[in-house]
Amino acid sequence: PLVSGRDLLEHAKQNHYAVGAFNFTNMENLQAIIAAAEELNAPVIIQITEKSIAYAGLGYLHALGKFAAETARVPVVLHLDHGKEWSTVIHCIRNGWTSVMIDASKKPFEQNVALTQKVVEVARPVKVAVESELGFIGGKEGDITPEGDIYTDVEQAVEFARRTGTDALAIAVGTAHGIYKGEVRIDFNRIKEIKERTAMPLVLHGSSGVPDEMIRQAVEAGINKVNFDTEIKLAHLAALKNFLQEHPGEYDLRKMNEPGRQAMKEKVKEKIRLLSSEGQN
Ligand code: 13P
Ligand code: ZN
Ligand code: NA
Repeated sequence: PLVSGRDLLEHAKQNHYAVGAFNFTNMENLQAIIAAAEELNAPVIIQITEKSIAYAGLGYLHALGKFAAETARVPVVLHLDHGKEWSTVIHCIRNGWTSVMIDASKKPFEQNVALTQKVVEVARPVKVAVESELGFIGGKEGDITPEGDIYTDVEQAVEFARRTGTDALAIAVGTAHGIYKGEVRIDFNRIKEIKERTAMPLVLHGSSGVPDEMIRQAVEAGINKVNFDTEIKLAHLAALKNFLQEHPGEYDLRKMNEPGRQAMKEKVKEKIRLLSSEGQN
């Protein structure tokens, strides 16, 4: 069933596990994610970005996501990932999303606080969870975020949490979006400190390419939501490419997407197992 993002994050926090959050852009992605969660009896978060909205249209994504969540045998949260536009965030809150991210992390601290506060004000009465971001999580080119003051500052995180009332906080601790060129280094102590001081659900972004053991350690340190996108898409792509190599004459899109969907499901299961969310239904 479709559940409140606030309830699920709270459950994860109380029970010291992390919920897997997987991005979808089409039906096959969604079916793979839901099937994986059902097979492992795990709650799951399905999420879309503004780029996916530009690609598929919010109406299609909403219809797909809502159907998937409502018919699933496990708790499912429908989440907006990296919402930057106020209009998108508000639209999702008013139209059945049970969780939204307002990402104003590129704005100066005070503006980030103000915008996040405004979103919380609208979301709170309707029980929609609000995730926000503090610090800079790199990516795009697959470079590792350089160390320095772009990591989430502990004192700032405490102030940010207190002033905004945000339900979950995405923190910059060394991960970056996409696949890494070099070695990944995660500041686990920073996660622990922020957790101790804020006692709130924390979110890890850019989790593709992070070694399994590090994901486990991050969850142990206090992460309650882990975002995976690139790796699950690459699993689909590899299976699709492989199929086309073996069947160069095939033109039925269903036949080539079937192994892709299967491969993505297996990858999602692999990730869910790392988060201790298996059986938390
Ligand atoms: P990856 O693409 O590195 O998995 O990052 C996903 C993410 O953070 C989505 O918000
Ligand atoms: Zn992200
Ligand atoms: Na990554």
